[in-house]
Amino acid sequence: MRVAVASDHGGYALKEELLSRLSGSVNDEFVDFGTNSEESVDYPDLAREVASRVAGGEFDRGILLCGTGLGMAIAANKVRGIRAVTVHDPYSARMTRLHNDTNILALGGRVIGPDLAEEIARIWLVTKFEGGRHSRRIEKIRRMEDEMIGKAGGDVLS
Ligand code: RB5
Repeated sequence: MRVAVASDHGGYALKEELLSRLSGSVNDEFVDFGTNSEESVDYPDLAREVASRVAGGEFDRGILLCGTGLGMAIAANKVRGIRAVTVHDPYSARMTRLHNDTNILALGGRVIGPDLAEEIARIWLVTKFEGGRHSRRIEKIRRMEDEMIGKAGGDVLS
């Protein structure tokens, strides 16, 4: 799998550590889209870079890191076709692949350490989507992108 990776300053140290731990993987290729220091940058810019490449098919998956992993997931989910989640435990890492077919993993560099981040990332990378009834639910989310994005709640509900 081709995996696009990026962080802001809050996730920079964890990104560097995670990339060095995962880069020996025979099955996956990781491409780093920055940031390259602890100098302050805006996480939506990095989320957009990775999410648009994943949604466009250039990469299979993305990993985004910021201080909490929260802003990155919020921003990435604005891109059509992206299902991004913040995960800080191994159970959720597995379940969000099995049931949600997530294509972006967001991690918080100020929340978890490198050992847990590595365990979560490895589980998330190898776990396959279960399909079946979950495909129907993903399809409903996909339909929301067509029917609801850009509309105010009132318009959608009427
Ligand atoms: C940056 O200070 C911080 O807001 C960012 O890394 C992230 O945690 C946002 O969700």
